[in-house]
Amino acid sequence: RRARAGGRMSGDYGSIGRTLVSEEELQARITEIAAEVSADYEGRELLVIGVLKGAIFFIADLVRRISVPCELDFMAVSSYGSATHSSGVVRILKDLDIPIAGRHVLLVEDVIDSGLTLSYLLKNLASRKPASLEICSLLTKPGHKRLKMPTRYIGFDLPDVFVIGYGLDHAERYRELPYIAELEL
Ligand code: IMP
Ligand code: MG
Repeated sequence: RRARAGGRMSGDYGSIGRTLVSEEELQARITEIAAEVSADYEGRELLVIGVLKGAIFFIADLVRRISVPCELDFMAVSSYGSATHSSGVVRILKDLDIPIAGRHVLLVEDVIDSGLTLSYLLKNLASRKPASLEICSLLTKPGHKRLKMPTRYIGFDLPDVFVIGYGLDHAERYRELPYIAELEL
């Protein structure tokens, strides 16, 4: 943690730039996605798998608006450290608590950038034989189109900039912002 004495050190955490998605836009879109998910999974039970930590606010807002019965589980993976570019190396820091065989799984992500993290997770989860496996990502960036990810639900397509807020961090900071902003370095 940064010492309080000495004030803000420029360059360490950057600062909050222009807002890309406002709190109102986020919340309205999440309500729409929740309605879509509820309709698509009508009559089934859902297992929502969140990827820590970036997706936590999105999942919390999403599942409270989903009308089909759902359970929650979480995975933690590391692909970034505090750098702003994908390393391509994915490590599972925390695995699921429950088996997913035969379950209808919705994998919820904060952002798909290169898609490397997600393609690894998809393969890993698919090998556990869920009844179905779909992806829901709050944000996407242009890079992911190269990997042709079968993303069923997308909140917003963003330009290729590093963003913070609503769960997304830079060096663990700014997750608590209720909106999505560009990071200013
Ligand atoms: P990918 O493997 O390049 O798709 O990166 C996916 C992960 O990198 C996300 O789940 C985020 O944790 C992180 N990430 C990618 N872009 C951003 C960003 O703009 N802000 C914060 N985290 C990001
Ligand atoms: Mg992150």
